[in-house]
Amino acid sequence: MSNDVMIYASDLSKNFGSFRALDKVNFEVKRGEIVGFLGPNGAGKSTTMRILTCFISPTGGTARVNGHDVFDAPLQVRESLGYLPQRAPLYLEMSVLEYLRFAADLRHLDDSTFRQRARSVVEVCGLAQVLGKEIRHLSHGYRQRVGLAQALIHDPPILILDEPTSDLDPNEKAEFLDYLKQIGQHRTVMLSTHNLAEVEASCARAIIVSRGRVVADGPLDEIRAKSGRVRYVVSIQESAVGAQYRGRGPLPKRSEVEDALGKVDGVKKVGELPTDERAHSFELVSEQDVDLRPELFKLIVDKGWVLLELHRDAQTLEDVFRSLTIGDERRNRQLGAAAEADDEQDDEEDVDDEDEGDDEDAERSADEDQKVAKDDRS
Ligand SMILES: Nc1ncnc2c1ncn2[C@@H]1O[C@H](COP(=O)(O)OP(=O)(O)OP(=O)(O)O)[C@@H](O)[C@H]1O
Ligand SMILES: [Mg+2]
Repeated sequence: MSNDVMIYASDLSKNFGSFRALDKVNFEVKRGEIVGFLGPNGAGKSTTMRILTCFISPTGGTARVNGHDVFDAPLQVRESLGYLPQRAPLYLEMSVLEYLRFAADLRHLDDSTFRQRARSVVEVCGLAQVLGKEIRHLSHGYRQRVGLAQALIHDPPILILDEPTSDLDPNEKAEFLDYLKQIGQHRTVMLSTHNLAEVEASCARAIIVSRGRVVADGPLDEIRAKSGRVRYVVSIQESAVGAQYRGRGPLPKRSEVEDALGKVDGVKKVGELPTDERAHSFELVSEQDVDLRPELFKLIVDKGWVLLELHRDAQTLEDVFRSLTIGDERRNRQLGAAAEADDEQDDEEDVDDEDEGDDEDAERSADEDQKVAKDDRS
């Protein structure tokens, strides 16, 4: 493993009773990368993150963070990272400042380092106005900021953020992405999210998981290219109301345009797009490695039609995400899946206390931290 690999997972597996939540997950995250960790509900994102942060242990495989094994060196792993769980572990009765001081104590920061770090996280996370407020009086977005601030207080080289922007309003999301860019400049960040636009905006690379397995891993461009298809939009003038028609011959009919586009070599599919009465608009799909724009242009010129729009889109990340993970959603909607879900429910009873529901999860994280701090001091 090279020194530059900050997060390493090899054949990582996790069973909850007989339910396999992770099935031989493999990936590496290098120093300085901001990686989007994507997957539908139940894909295994939080489970992976909880293993990497030593909150639960894997059933099989290896995980290393900053070179430290999660089994053999959990304290070193925890020291290397800041973790923001899906529900931030906050003590609601503390003020923001008290909580940050508490988080700093857990990390053994001395007073002057704390003051210096607090200044920095307060600025980056935009907490100056709420430092004296009790956390229970903060809005959800501000609580997320406090959660992020505790993850950053010890200036860790690695950040693991589990859906940090869920429930934030659009302004808060945009601000959060700005913070992420700032804090990601000198750190390795693994960020789980359902928001693909967020990944497009802040990550150069994504890992997509589905049903406990990695189904795509690479730079966003490569992942987008995975579907092997491209899409074109072609709009042809349909009526000349209020304007002079500059085409040759009569205005074209919808079926005539559709037939002609469908006959262009390389076109796999033609679908009509909604438009106003001025244009016939179609979506075409072709293979990735051809560019049909010259052919389409020539056809339109030969026919004497007036071209209003022609563009070629690579598949969006969302298209690819859907095609790679569509099975999960289908399964959720099939009656047969109910039995499996029941199994999962039963399995919950088989696992340790640490695997309780989400709310307890948040509290547990804080309790665990306290325990680690105590163990640490003794
Ligand atoms: N403690 C547990 N006991 C039983 N099953 C569990 C437990 N924790 C997670 N699971 C199951 O493991 C699978 C993966 O869950 P996980 O929370 O990792 O998904 P996720 O990708 O984070 O989903 P989401 O996007 O909804 O947060 C799910 O089917 C979940 O029900
Ligand atoms: Mg999750």
